[in-house]
Amino acid sequence: MARHRGDKEDGVDRHMSLLKLVQILSFLVVFVAGIIMGLATSSHINQYFASQARLFFTNNIEATKIPDNNCTVLRPCKTVDCWSIETFLHPKNLTHSMADEQLFWRASLMPTKEEYPFDRLPKVAFMFLTRGPLPMLPLWERFFRGHEKYFSIYIHTPSNYVLNVSLDSPFYGRQIPSQDVEWGSVSLVDAEKRLLANALLDFSNERFVLLSESCIPVYNFPTVYKYLIHSEHSFVDSYDEPTRYGRGRYNRKMLPDIKLFQWRKGSQWFEVQRALAVHIVSDTKYYSIFKKYCKPACYPDEHYIPTYLNMFQGPFNANRTVTWVDWSLGGPHPATYMGINVTESFIQSIRSNGTECSYNSEMTSVCYLFARKFHPSALEPLLNLTSTANLHMLAGFR
Ligand SMILES: *[C@@H]1O[C@H](CO)[C@@H](O)[C@H](O)[C@H]1NC(C)=O
Ligand SMILES: *[C@@H]1O[C@H](CO)[C@@H](O)[C@H](O)[C@H]1NC(C)=O
Ligand SMILES: *[C@@H]1O[C@H](CO)[C@@H](O)[C@H](O)[C@H]1NC(C)=O
Ligand SMILES: *[C@@H]1O[C@H](CO)[C@@H](O)[C@H](O)[C@H]1NC(C)=O
Ligand SMILES: *[C@@H]1O[C@H](CO)[C@@H](O)[C@H](O)[C@H]1NC(C)=O
Ligand SMILES: *[C@@H]1O[C@H](CO)[C@@H](O)[C@H](O)[C@H]1NC(C)=O
Ligand SMILES: *[C@@H]1O[C@H](CO)[C@@H](O)[C@H](O)[C@H]1NC(C)=O
Repeated sequence: MARHRGDKEDGVDRHMSLLKLVQILSFLVVFVAGIIMGLATSSHINQYFASQARLFFTNNIEATKIPDNNCTVLRPCKTVDCWSIETFLHPKNLTHSMADEQLFWRASLMPTKEEYPFDRLPKVAFMFLTRGPLPMLPLWERFFRGHEKYFSIYIHTPSNYVLNVSLDSPFYGRQIPSQDVEWGSVSLVDAEKRLLANALLDFSNERFVLLSESCIPVYNFPTVYKYLIHSEHSFVDSYDEPTRYGRGRYNRKMLPDIKLFQWRKGSQWFEVQRALAVHIVSDTKYYSIFKKYCKPACYPDEHYIPTYLNMFQGPFNANRTVTWVDWSLGGPHPATYMGINVTESFIQSIRSNGTECSYNSEMTSVCYLFARKFHPSALEPLLNLTSTANLHMLAGFR
């Protein structure tokens, strides 16, 4: 019975399994066809997205691409990539709307990583603190010509003054956002810090020289550059003067932060290396003490930086200035040299007067790289001197 049943069932089973097979086969056909169609469609979609993605990428790159790497202040790029490393490292346009507080904070940022992600050719920042015009402009332009890769210029003027220089001058477009300065007041230190901070925004600047409109160079550019770049020290005049013009200007209210033995005096025309420039723009505490307690007959520009560096950066300072000046006449102002006073032997005596100075723990006869004060009438004879064979400012340094 079981077998019969089995036979019958066998017959039915055979029928059923045949049906199933057909079903499975047709299912398979549909399934495979589905897969093939699916694959085809999805690959088409992939391709579609891929091509779209490529299109979008292309479009994006086109949109943010700088037309060429020729962007200059004179010929600004149409599309500027705000996040390019170049814009960050070497700002070309000095115009900005940062307040001093914001600017000093930004300028105080120092990289921790030792290597630079670019070829860093150290530059000297020439910072001109002026009352307006630059009468020695043609002399400086001659000094800088041909050395464009090695320097940056920054000019601080009265707030509404517009310096009129030709488009091809290295001074073109180099005015920083300035504020009015009252000579003898702390606003002079503000202007110095403003110049330092603007110059610090360019990461290639390594040495920072402060100059006035009455300053002249007394050596050629390569000599000045080598002297500063290879110096282990900064050149900030800083000395203890036990008279009423020195210690006499100290205020006991500066205690306990500044003590009399730390008090220093020095010419405001400084030269500092990058690390010291960062320290100067970063200070608020000591600056505030000077602002509060150093008022005429105390002059912040003659005491703040010399004292501050003496307290915290003494070993990095040569304690002498590289800007020559003549105090021999006495009185509150140094001598001003007119056209009639400018002779070859006079300039030679500034370059080397028989006195030696220490430089990187050796002695050298080159003590001064710049000189003041020169009247506008001195320009023509100076240009004459620098173009004669004897004194074309090519006399090397070592
Ligand atoms: C840069 O500008 C100069 C002159 O305008 C041109 O001759 C040169 O081809 C430009 N360079 C690039 C990379 O566009
Ligand atoms: C520099 O930037 C300022 C403001 O962002 C702009 O007004 C000025 O035209 C720019 N100067 C140059 C020479 O590109
Ligand atoms: C700028 O100087 C040029 C050449 O010396 C002169 O032609 C031009 O009038 C001056 N512009 C202004 C605004 O003083
Ligand atoms: C400059 O004076 C400081 C003290 O403030 C001293 O440490 C430093 O050695 C001096 N510099 C040189 C080059 O003698
Ligand atoms: C410049 O020369 C004039 C005339 O010789 C002289 O009176 C004056 O003292 C000189 N000035 C200086 C600073 O040497
Ligand atoms: C040379 O210059 C130094 C520094 O200014 C000065 O102290 C010295 O008296 C000068 N020497 C001569 C011979 O003029
Ligand atoms: C400059 O040199 C020229 C030619 O050597 C001369 O004629 C002129 O008088 C000189 N000017 C001054 C101010 O020395």
